[in-house]
Formats: sequence, C-alpha cells, structure tokens
Amino acid sequence: MKSKGRVVLVLLIAVAVAAAFTLSYAATKMPDQPIKIDSKDAYKEKKKGAVTFPHVKHKALKCVECHHEFKDGKNVWQEGQEVKKCAACHKDKKEGKKEKLEKAFHKKCQTCHKKLKEEKKPTGPVTCVKCHGKEKK
Ligand code: HEC
Ligand code: HEC
Ligand code: HEC
Ligand code: HEC
Repeated sequence: MKSKGRVVLVLLIAVAVAAAFTLSYAATKMPDQPIKIDSKDAYKEKKKGAVTFPHVKHKALKCVECHHEFKDGKNVWQEGQEVKKCAACHKDKKEGKKEKLEKAFHKKCQTCHKKLKEEKKPTGPVTCVKCHGKEKK
C-alpha cells in the first residue's frame, strides 16, 4: 500500500527532525541546573576538586562574555551555536594568545568576582575552597 508507506516515511522524518531539534536545543541552551566543571583529562595532574558552576546566577551576563571562538581576533561565537568545552582549545600550557587552561578559568571567573567584591557588589566566591571544595576528587 503506497499511502501507508508514505505515512510511515512522514512519521520517520518527523521523528528524525524532532530528535535533531532536541539535541541541538539541549546542546546550546543555557543550562538551568548547575553544571560541574571537571576537565579531568586536560591536566597532567589534577590537584583540585570539580567546580560547580551555576549559569542562572550569571544570567545578567551575555553568553559571549564567557563563550567564544575567535576569527581574525574577533569573537564570532553566537548564542545558539554549539558550546565547546574550554579544554577543547585551552591546553595545559599557554599556546600563543590562548591562556593555559587553569589560567583561562581563573582569569575569567576570579577577575570578575574580585572586581565586584572590591566594588562591594553582589559577587561569587573568591577563595579556593569556595569554588573547589575541600576534597580532591
Ligand atoms: C571563582 C572560582 C574559583 C576560585 C575562587 C578558584 N578557582 Fe581554581 N579553578 C576554577 C575552575 C572553574 C577551574 C577549572 C577546573 C577544570 O578545568 O576542571 C580551576 C582550575 C584550577 C586548577 C587546575 C586544575 C586542577 O585541579 O589541578 C588549580 C590547580 C586551581 N584551580 C587552584 C586554585 C587555587 C589554589 C585557588 C585559590 C588561590 C583557586 N583555584 C581558586 C575556579 C576557581
Ligand atoms: C560566567 C560565564 C558564563 C556565561 C555568562 C555563560 N556560560 Fe555557558 N558555560 C560556562 C562554563 C565555564 C561552562 C563549562 C565549560 C567547560 O566545562 O569546559 C559552560 C557550559 C555551557 C554549556 C554546556 C553545558 C554542558 O552541560 O555541557 C552550554 C550549553 C552553555 N554553557 C550555554 C550558555 C548560554 C546559552 C549562555 C548565555 C545565555 C551561557 N552559557 C553563558 C560559562 C558561562
Ligand atoms: C574554540 C576555541 C576556544 C574555546 C572553546 C575557548 N577559548 Fe578561550 N580563547 C581562545 C583563543 C583563540 C583565545 C585568544 C584570543 C585572542 O586572540 O586574544 C582565547 C582567550 C581566552 C582568554 C584570555 C582573553 C580574555 O578574555 O581575557 C580567557 C580568559 C579565555 N579564553 C577563557 C576561556 C574560557 C573560560 C572558556 C570556556 C568557557 C574558553 N576560553 C573557551 C579559544 C577558545
Ligand atoms: C562578569 C562577572 C562574572 C564572571 C565572569 C563569573 N561570575 Fe560567578 N558570579 C558573578 C556574580 C555577580 C555572582 C553573584 C550573583 C548573585 O548572587 O546573584 C556570581 C556567583 C557565582 C557563584 C555563587 C553562586 C551561589 O550560589 O552563591 C559561583 C559558584 C560562581 N559565580 C562561579 C563562577 C565561575 C566558576 C565562573 C567562571 C567559569 C564565574 N563564576 C564567572 C559574576 C561573575
């Protein structure tokens, strides 16, 4: 039966489209639950515990303040695009203008928290233990 085959085909396409959409959506939307930053294999030796990062507490910021992809010195990453791990580009040692991974995180996170603290504004943690926890994991 021709029409039945067609219905099945249409359904299959619909399912595929829905699946693709869900995947890309899940991969690009700002996570509403805290995520665990733990670039396990990126360091020769991992000294500290994983860091919990709540996106929602950073809602006031634009995604591009933290997410980037440079082309000719300009950040061309746009909201909705795939998000790569920082460790996809930043390695355990500095490469040109790319800070080494640990520095990339600290420069991004701590610089802002410390600056806001000095300005006596609401801010995030500035001490090692508040970000990394007590235990090495
Ligand atoms: C604002 C949060 C924050 C603060 C404060 C902070 N860190 Fe980190 N640190 C991070 C994040 C995020 C990473 C990246 C972790 C990863 O890549 O898995 C990191 C990575 C590291 C790493 C490299 C990864 C490892 O475990 O070996 C070391 C070492 C480190 N931090 C030490 C410190 C020390 C020492 C202090 C205090 C002087 C400190 N950090 C304060 C957020 C913070
Ligand atoms: C204050 C910095 C900051 C801001 C602002 C920010 N992000 Fe992130 N985001 C991060 C960090 C750090 C990670 C973890 C990267 C890693 O593990 O290497 C991350 C991870 C993600 C992930 C992957 C989550 C996962 O579970 O793998 C997505 C998706 C994402 N961000 C989307 C967004 C979107 C969309 C926005 C803007 C609406 C945004 N982020 C704003 C810092 C930020
Ligand atoms: C697609 C590759 C790529 C990814 C993914 C990436 N970076 Fe970078 N990052 C770069 C490059 C390239 C530079 C140097 C930019 C320039 O030309 O100045 C850079 C520079 C930086 C700098 C120094 C410049 C500044 O803004 O102070 C920091 C800090 C930084 N990245 C943090 C991060 C963090 C945190 C993440 C994850 C949320 C991340 N990067 C993800 C490629 C990347
Ligand atoms: C441009 C500024 C800025 C940057 C960059 C930034 N933060 Fe924050 N962070 C804040 C502010 C402001 C708050 C306080 C928000 C509030 O209390 O409403 C905060 C809060 C937090 C909190 C505390 C949440 C709580 O429950 O009290 C954590 C943890 C945190 N940030 C981790 C990080 C990490 C890890 C990074 C780097 C990946 C980062 N932040 C980058 C500004 C920043």
